[in-house]
Amino acid sequence: MNLYGKASQLLLKQLGKRLFTTTSFTGSVITEPFMVHAGTTTGTTRLLSMHARSYNVQASSVSSPEKKDDTDTKAVSSYWGVAPPSLTKADGSAWKWNCFRPWEAYQADTTIDVKKHHNPVTWNDKIAFWIVQTLKYPTSLYFRKKHIHHAVLLETVAAVPGMVGGMLLHTKSLRRFEQSGGWIKALLEEAENERMHLMTFIDVYKPKWHERALVFTVQGVFFNAYFLAYIASPKLAHRITGYLEEEAVNSYTEFLKDLENGVMEDIPAPAIAIDYWCLPQNSTLKDVVRVIRADEAHHRDLNHYASDIQCQGHELKEYPAPIGYH
Ligand SMILES: [Fe+2]
Ligand SMILES: [Fe+2]
Repeated sequence: MNLYGKASQLLLKQLGKRLFTTTSFTGSVITEPFMVHAGTTTGTTRLLSMHARSYNVQASSVSSPEKKDDTDTKAVSSYWGVAPPSLTKADGSAWKWNCFRPWEAYQADTTIDVKKHHNPVTWNDKIAFWIVQTLKYPTSLYFRKKHIHHAVLLETVAAVPGMVGGMLLHTKSLRRFEQSGGWIKALLEEAENERMHLMTFIDVYKPKWHERALVFTVQGVFFNAYFLAYIASPKLAHRITGYLEEEAVNSYTEFLKDLENGVMEDIPAPAIAIDYWCLPQNSTLKDVVRVIRADEAHHRDLNHYASDIQCQGHELKEYPAPIGYH
């Protein structure tokens, strides 16, 4: 077989694994309770009171003299001295999520104005606005009333700008030996928050192979395009994200309307959402969409604010970033 044939075979083998398996999605949600080692109570115990809930944090012992034959746990944590904390909720039940910790949970501000719109005035604004409008129509045509499918694709895109912007500000801070004003953290928080939206939706809908292929393609294009846009003009990039977030708010409003009018069946909220947004146990998908929409409105404000700072001739680091503003 010639070199070309070998390369194609290798590429297909690798892509096939990534595109056509579904295990990575089901595996993303950790449903097993957090592992608690018996007889490992030598660490300090403290009670955290974060946001609306409190939790117990107990450090697991690195080496347990009582356990002679624990080769499995040793391989994972003992040798390197990295012991996972055993976390419990205030009611004593185990904290079951490894993908986020109790102190990252919060209550979304659902009183935020979901109708706010930044009027495009300058060329920068108009270009950003029309880029988003152009992207919006084919997406709406493709998904129509399939709100959960739409949300899954939307969140895979929405989690990119914060990570790209945060990464570029991080490297800029290193290059220039200067502070970032907290903007690195604020943008990475946004990316993480968007990813948690995705982790929530994949609990109620598992994307099909063709949707995964679409996400794969869209991510490849969007990541690189946004990366180049941010290098060329951060104020344009933040304005684009501001308008993308406005559209996210609009699409969640449509989603919510269909749930409220009974066009779509309301279902119990995923357990991950109840713990992440500190929601009541009897919450439903409607409540989840409401808090996610509030998050999107916050992202909208954060990105329009970042663009405004730069449009007025300032640098982001001159104005403290709204950290903790999910
Ligand atoms: Fe989102
Ligand atoms: Fe968002």
